[in-house]
Amino acid sequence: MMNVTQAFRGSILYFTGDPLHDHQPVIWHEDGLLLLNGELIVASGAYADLRDKLPEDLCVTDYSGKIIIPGFVDTHVHYPQTDIIASPAEGLLPWLETYTFPAESQFGDHDYAQEVASFFLDELLKNGTTTAMVYSTVHKTSADAFFGISHQRNLRMVTGKVLMDRNCPEYLQDTAESGARDSEDLIRKWHGRGRQLYALTPRFAPCSTNEQLGLTGELARQYPDTFIQTHVAENQDECAWARSLFPSARSYLDIYDQFGLMRERAMYAHCIWLDETDTRRMAETGSAISVCPTSNLFLGSGLFSFRGAEQHQVQLSMATDVGGGTSFSMLQTMNEMHKVARMGGYHLNALRMFYYATLGGAKAMRLDHQIGTLQAGTEADFIVLNPKATPLLSRRTENADSLEEVLFALAMLGDDRTIEATYAAGIRQK
Ligand code: GUN
Ligand code: ZN
Repeated sequence: MMNVTQAFRGSILYFTGDPLHDHQPVIWHEDGLLLLNGELIVASGAYADLRDKLPEDLCVTDYSGKIIIPGFVDTHVHYPQTDIIASPAEGLLPWLETYTFPAESQFGDHDYAQEVASFFLDELLKNGTTTAMVYSTVHKTSADAFFGISHQRNLRMVTGKVLMDRNCPEYLQDTAESGARDSEDLIRKWHGRGRQLYALTPRFAPCSTNEQLGLTGELARQYPDTFIQTHVAENQDECAWARSLFPSARSYLDIYDQFGLMRERAMYAHCIWLDETDTRRMAETGSAISVCPTSNLFLGSGLFSFRGAEQHQVQLSMATDVGGGTSFSMLQTMNEMHKVARMGGYHLNALRMFYYATLGGAKAMRLDHQIGTLQAGTEADFIVLNPKATPLLSRRTENADSLEEVLFALAMLGDDRTIEATYAAGIRQK
């Protein structure tokens, strides 16, 4: 007899494959049941098939009329930029100088960093995001503070100390050696401790010397199950700057490739201005793309090309990129992702957007055996969507003719009000 500690009844939706490439990639039970044992899912399926697995004395939490899906996975976001979200600037580089760098200077203070990390995690959970790949700042203590809070709450989170040893204010610079040493200390302390995971985090090539990128590549080889996160080809001025600093590289992306920073678990944010060779290289190396539509529109960086990524079958994921991004909501991010695709003459259906926000993100991070799904044996990180959360949503979803239409309305009209509940490792967080 299976041990069951919690049970949830409602519609159940999750993916087993990519809607673009795989046959029948969706699991849908209109009247479903999700069973947990402690922090893990032990079964999910049709209520009629699983009701006899319910212990007699167990109270079932009833989410009938609502949709239970895996928690959202945001693959690129900056916690130290929480307080400068929605700051006006004329594009990426002026925005970094005017708002971002000064804001990040405060994160050498552990207490301050903890307070912001705590607010940031509340905001993620309120919006249904249960896993994120997060940038800290250059300060070792900023990553340490974030891990401490996330560990206390038993959340599956990834972060890393930012590496930047040139072309930024002196108060935010490390050195190639100190950056590598601090990163290694943090890996030893946090990577794999509870649910915490480490990401080597060179901010972007223009802020690192050859020495720093070289040492980061060595760490990436030495610790192959750590993550790598950086920015690439976001904005044309940035691309020109990167090319001028590394004249021997074939392209901006090639800078990272030359230093051994393209591999599985490497997450490249933006990728708007890649060429075909770059895109092929992303696929060959198993590197993944974070598509950040609210940020790209806000900063006027450009429109991501879904067609190029589709041709080469690059692993795609979805991200808010707060504070360049303008919302913590992955539903709002879907809304803008759809519009970015439309502007390129490309139709992104709701099923694919929900895939990118859940299993797609988990696969891009090689964590799909643990999160992004409701399959038995995985971690109980899930959310409950309310298709009647607002009067307008209610009117639109009541007359929907298909699951696609319901999900599309949630993606276009949804926000934090749509998230009825958020659970992480089986514990209710919202
Ligand atoms: N490129 C380098 N740093 C950043 C950052 O903090 N945000 C964004 N959007 N792009 C960057
Ligand atoms: Zn970013």
